[in-house]
Amino acid sequence: MLKKAVIPAAGLGTRFLPITKNSPKEMLPLVDKPAIQYVVEEAVASGIDDIIIITGRGKRAIEDHFDKAFELEWTLRLNNNLEALEEIERISHLADIHYIRQKEPLGLGHAILCAKKHVGDDAFAVLLGDDIVFSDVPCTKQLIDQYEKQRASIIAVEHVPPDRIESYGVVKVTDAKTEDGHLYGVEDLVEKPKREEAPSDLGILGRYILTPGIFDCLEQTKPGVGNEIQLTDALRLLTKNNEQAVYAYEFNGRRYDLGNKLEWLKTTFDVALSRADLKEELLRHIKKKIEEVEQENKLFSDTD
Ligand code: G1P
Repeated sequence: MLKKAVIPAAGLGTRFLPITKNSPKEMLPLVDKPAIQYVVEEAVASGIDDIIIITGRGKRAIEDHFDKAFELEWTLRLNNNLEALEEIERISHLADIHYIRQKEPLGLGHAILCAKKHVGDDAFAVLLGDDIVFSDVPCTKQLIDQYEKQRASIIAVEHVPPDRIESYGVVKVTDAKTEDGHLYGVEDLVEKPKREEAPSDLGILGRYILTPGIFDCLEQTKPGVGNEIQLTDALRLLTKNNEQAVYAYEFNGRRYDLGNKLEWLKTTFDVALSRADLKEELLRHIKKKIEEVEQENKLFSDTD
């Protein structure tokens, strides 16, 4: 059984400055839960119990979040706030979490390479914190199920509109391998191609199952897009030079890309609307806001 996952969380988060000057972008909340907790919970719900988070300078808040909070728990117990206490205790027992520091920001591929010794000779999952997936079967579990059948690296992909393709790794695939048409063989991969050069509209999202052969490839990978060592380039070596099969899997579920402010806001909004304690009042507020904006626009057009 696949039991290990690597979660890279060392990025500087420059797209969210100034909030990320002193707090990790992985701790940005979706209402009241930090993004990285969703990712860790997905890994755990997929059967993973050994998690390696790759951190760097200024990321201590992540370690504190998954640690035991003795004073807080003591105070919650004293105040008989048992619901909050249960949740806080649950977070510190989610999984066996280890932290490895990436000393220089050399890219996603390099961050994964930092986990080489801990991962050893097992296949492992990678979950990127910028992507949150809501689905009946956790996205990582869907990939693990495919891995059990193929015993090869599997990348989660989805169709991406042309104006977004330059933000992702993109795969060139062979014909679908399964009856339901969700699994493809990967022929080639390109990191953040120009729109006119993208080999397909299948963009990589941040969920992978990787075989340990990826580490040799990462060691051979030269800096690519953004002068960083890219995981996509290492996967290209894995399938081209090492002739190991790599598959792309169109997962079932809804993906939210938290990589920029607008998408983070939309996700926060959707998460709030899925909560019974917030939905009604939030909708009332939005409705009022829309009316106000429409009224303003009308005033402007009347004075034109
Ligand atoms: C990374 C990967 C890219 C992938 C994306 C998914 O890019 O390099 O291949 O499509 O995550 O979110 P980043 O968003 O870190 O620039």
